[in-house]
Amino acid sequence: TGYVTLDSGFKNTGATKSAITFLDGEQGILKYRGYGIEELAEKSTFLEVAYLLIYGNLPTKTEIEDFQHKISRHTLVHEDMKKFFDGFPSKSHPMGQLSSLVCSLSSFYPESLDPHQTKEEFELTIIKLLAKMPTIVSWIYKKSLGHPVIYPQNKYDYVTNFLYMTFGQRTEEITIDPVVIDAMNKLLILHADHEQNCSTSTVRIVGSSDCNLYASISAGVSALWGPLHGGANQAVIEMLEKIKNDGGDVDKWVNKAKDKNDPFRLMGFGHRVYKNFDPRAKIIKKACDDILAKLGINDPVLDIAKKLEEVALNDPYFVDRKLYPNVDFYSGIIYRALGFPTEMFTVLFALGRLPGWIAQWKEMRENKEPIGRPRQIYVGEKDRTFVDIASR
Ligand code: CMC
Repeated sequence: TGYVTLDSGFKNTGATKSAITFLDGEQGILKYRGYGIEELAEKSTFLEVAYLLIYGNLPTKTEIEDFQHKISRHTLVHEDMKKFFDGFPSKSHPMGQLSSLVCSLSSFYPESLDPHQTKEEFELTIIKLLAKMPTIVSWIYKKSLGHPVIYPQNKYDYVTNFLYMTFGQRTEEITIDPVVIDAMNKLLILHADHEQNCSTSTVRIVGSSDCNLYASISAGVSALWGPLHGGANQAVIEMLEKIKNDGGDVDKWVNKAKDKNDPFRLMGFGHRVYKNFDPRAKIIKKACDDILAKLGINDPVLDIAKKLEEVALNDPYFVDRKLYPNVDFYSGIIYRALGFPTEMFTVLFALGRLPGWIAQWKEMRENKEPIGRPRQIYVGEKDRTFVDIASR
């Protein structure tokens, strides 16, 4: 059957050629389509970055207006989808709901099922998904509160509309603080793509069987849910809270993380590819200080996070293994300051990662990549003879 190279966790296996995101883990460099993440986070909007990732170039003024306009026309989700919310138990995790709801879009918009969609139909599927995701995410939040959902208002831009549906009330107009809108744009941009990570590889591999876009992205949402991946942002805040309630003894928790007989890991620390620092974490740490100061918030958990980082970065265990804070370490503190509950954090990561997933799926299809199908090295029993149940 030929020679198989074993690479558990695909640590050194390239699965594709890609022109979307450049990542240098030794130098801590991250670029989308050639633009440094630092510059995009500072100067761009999330919708512009989505366009950049999906179509390859920053949009002109007309192109972004047209993109926003097309998206605005599809922000409503099918009314029947509201029945799902009635069916979920009120404490359902938002990621489980999101994965199911995104997959169910394939039933409401079945034209997506045809792997030979025309270019126009395919474009429309992309627009619909981008348009409906903020509505779905905000409705998940409203469901968790037991509040009525808020319908999109197309006078708002993409991010503002999301915040309006999330924090708005039916009875009154609300003004969303520009500091909150800026912070949300920055966070979503920093999460928008990250080359062949677990969820993105999942999206590509599911799509490689000619499965539709909605189902492929739904699989990506499930992959992101795990605490070793996107679920780390929720796990970080839970860990920091635990440390705070336990008296704030940071050394004790660092020692726990080092103990190989203890399954506890420092959440928000370490990365498969970054072995120097995570450039996203650097930007988010600074943004965290800025945003909390602007909003006048003093979160004791931020002090614990900073102390933890300092202790870990001076400990040989973390230094030798090149373990640094990653994107998830400080992001949750910002989400919290903006008013999101902890369980919503990973859903916000998914909202940010959506354009990256779409761009990667589109690239995989355009490159006509073959179905993904890794091999294995068989280590099981060889030849056995069937034994009748009465004799076993
Ligand atoms: N705390 C304590 N020890 C750790 C940690 C940690 N957070 N991360 C890695 N190590 C140790 C690990 O035990 C191993 O030690 P040894 O060589 O003695 O066996 C060594 O460092 C290498 O770790 P690994 O698990 O082989 O590395 P990996 O590339 O397979 O895993 C990781 C990367 C991100 C899953 C891992 O660092 C981790 O579990 N971190 C905590 C969870 C987390 O923050 N995840 C978010 C990642 S960034 C955003 C995203 O992907 O969504």
